[in-house]
Amino acid sequence: CGIVGYIGKREAYPILIKGLKRLEYRGYDSAGVAIISNNQQLNVYKTKGKVTDLENFVTQKDISGNIGIAHTRWATHGEPCSVNAHPHYSSSETLALIHNGIIENYAVLKEKLQAKGYTFKSNTDTEVLVQLIEYMKVTNHLDLLTAVQLALREVIGAYAIAVLEKDHPDEIIAARKSSPLVVGIGADEFFLASDATPIVEYTDKVVYLEDEEIAVIHRDKELKVVNLNNVEMTPEVTKVEMNLGQLEKEGYPHFMLKEIFEQPGCIHDCMRGRINIDGNSVVLSAVIDYKEKLLKAKRFIIVACGTSWHAGLIGKHLIESFCRIPVEVEYASEFRYRDPVIDENDVVIAISQSGETADTLAAVELAKSRGAFIYGICNAIGSSIPRATHTGSYIHVGPEIGVASTKAFTGQVTVLTMLALTLAREKRTIGEAQFLKVVHELNGIPEKMKQVLKLNDKIAELSKIFTYAHNFIYLGRGYSYPVALEGALKLKEISYIHAEGYPAAEMKHGPIALVDAEMPVVVIATQNGLYEKVLSNIQEIKARKGRVIALVTEGDTVISKIADYCIELPQTIECLDPLITTVPLQMLAYHVAVCKGMDVDQPRNLAKSVTVE
Ligand code: G6P
Repeated sequence: CGIVGYIGKREAYPILIKGLKRLEYRGYDSAGVAIISNNQQLNVYKTKGKVTDLENFVTQKDISGNIGIAHTRWATHGEPCSVNAHPHYSSSETLALIHNGIIENYAVLKEKLQAKGYTFKSNTDTEVLVQLIEYMKVTNHLDLLTAVQLALREVIGAYAIAVLEKDHPDEIIAARKSSPLVVGIGADEFFLASDATPIVEYTDKVVYLEDEEIAVIHRDKELKVVNLNNVEMTPEVTKVEMNLGQLEKEGYPHFMLKEIFEQPGCIHDCMRGRINIDGNSVVLSAVIDYKEKLLKAKRFIIVACGTSWHAGLIGKHLIESFCRIPVEVEYASEFRYRDPVIDENDVVIAISQSGETADTLAAVELAKSRGAFIYGICNAIGSSIPRATHTGSYIHVGPEIGVASTKAFTGQVTVLTMLALTLAREKRTIGEAQFLKVVHELNGIPEKMKQVLKLNDKIAELSKIFTYAHNFIYLGRGYSYPVALEGALKLKEISYIHAEGYPAAEMKHGPIALVDAEMPVVVIATQNGLYEKVLSNIQEIKARKGRVIALVTEGDTVISKIADYCIELPQTIECLDPLITTVPLQMLAYHVAVCKGMDVDQPRNLAKSVTVE
C-alpha cells in the first residue's frame, strides 16, 4: 500500500493525488483521501479501484483544504471495496487514519472495543486501530499524540500510519513500525509518503522514520520525532537524489518497457566506479571494507523473494564457482519461520529491489539475532533492509515502477557477479586469466544488451502467435535454469498465462506429460557448457510435437533446423549469459501481455512492494 500526506500553504488535494499516482505501483485495489477543509470539516472520500477512479468520485465534492492524507491500497484484511478502503473514520468521525501493514492482534482488540460499545463498518484491521486511538483519547482525555502512543503500545504487527484530527487542522501524526514512512521537509510545508518518490518534486530534504518512531508534523513548527514512550528523538535529515524523469514514462507506453530498455544504461551505472577496465580491477567497496568477515565465512545464505530470489540462484552459481564457498538460497518467508541453523560463521546476503519486503526484512533480523553477518543488495536508497544490514551494495538502477521487476533483476545479477569476482580475487580462488576474461566480458554487457533490444519488434511479432496459450514451459540448465524461472514468472505476472520454469533435464520427470502440439516451450539454448544436453532436451519436446521457441547464440545453424522459432542472441561467457538471455524473455512476457490487453504495469492482485508477510 502507499501513503501520502501534505500540510502547508498549498491546496493539499492535487499534491495528494499526484503522490498517490507515483505510489500506485505499491497497490491499486482502492484509493482514498482525507482532507480538513477550509470550513473545518474532516472529509473522507474513498473508492474501489485506481487513483483515477478516486478522481472521478470526488468531482462535485469539497476537496478544499491544505492538510490531508491519502492512501492507495493492496488488500490484506477484507476484500477491495470502498468500505474497506482507507482512510477510516473513528466512530465520532473526528479522526481519520490511513495504514500500511497488518495489525496481527486486531481480532482481540476489536472484541475489547465491541465490548465497550464500538461498532465497525469495515472488516479491516485498520478501522480497529483508529477506534482504539479514539477510545484512548476519549476515555483518558488525551491529546492525539498521547492517544496514538498508548494505542500503538497495544498493537502487535506492522504499521505505517498517518492520522488527522478534525479539530486540529495544523497537525498530522504519523508513525511507523516495519513499514516504511518518509517525511519531506519543504519551506513552510511538510510531505509524508511511503517512499521518497511523491516527495522529490517538492524537496530533497527527507527524514526516514525508524521503527516505533512517531512524527509530529505541525504546520508552523519544526518536525518533532518521539518514540512510543514520548522520548524525543533527533531526526536525521538526508538528501535524496532522484531525477523526475526517472518517475515518468518518457514516451514509452508502459514503465515496464521503459525499464527493459533502460537496462544497458542501468548496468553501466551499476558498474560505474566499481569496475576499472584499464586497471583490470573490480572493487565492491563493501566487500573490501568487510573482507575479514566475508573471507572467513564458512557458508553464504542468500535470502530473498520473487524475482530477487531468482537473482539469488544465479548468485549461488557465481559465488560457488568463483569463491568455492558453499551457498544456500532460501525464500525469506520460509527461512524466517524454520528455526534455521545459522551462526556467526555465516554470511547472509539479503536481496531486495524495494528494500522493504517484510519477509526479507524479518529474515535479516532473525539472522542478525543469531550472530550472522548481513550483506544487503538493494535498489531503493535509504529503505529498511539496507538500514538493517551490516553492509551492502546498492544496485543503482534507478526507481523501478513497473510491478514486474526487470532492470532490478539484471542489476542484482551484476552486483552479485562483482561481489563474487572481488571476493574470489581476495581469496585467490580464481585464476588471473579467468578473472580478466569475466571482467572484460562484464564490461561489454551493456553493448550486447543494446543488440538484444533491437529484437523488440521481432519478439512483438512472435508474441502475437502465442496469445492463445493457456500454459507455457520454460527450460534452462545451469546458469540458465534461474533465467527459465524468471522468464516464466514474468509471463504469469503480467499476462496471467500459467507458466512453469524447469531445469531442462528434469522435464522428463513430470512436465513432459503436459507437452502436446498446443504447448509453447521456451528453451534457453545458447552455446555454453551444456549446449549438447539442451539440444537433446529440445529433441525430446519436438518428439512430442511441442512448439519450441529457442534462445540461441547468433549463427547457430543446428537448433534453427529443429526449433519452431529462434531468437538469436550475441554470445557471451556462460556465467554472464543470464544478463543477455533474460532480456528477450522480459520482452516476450511484455508483448504477450500487451497483445492480450492486460494492464502491464499494474497486474491484478500484485503489488510492487510487499510490506506485509
Ligand atoms: C513482489 C514484486 C516482485 C518482487 C518481489 C520481491 O512480489 O511484485 O516483482 O520480485 O516482491 O521484492 P523485492 O523488493 O524484495 O525485490
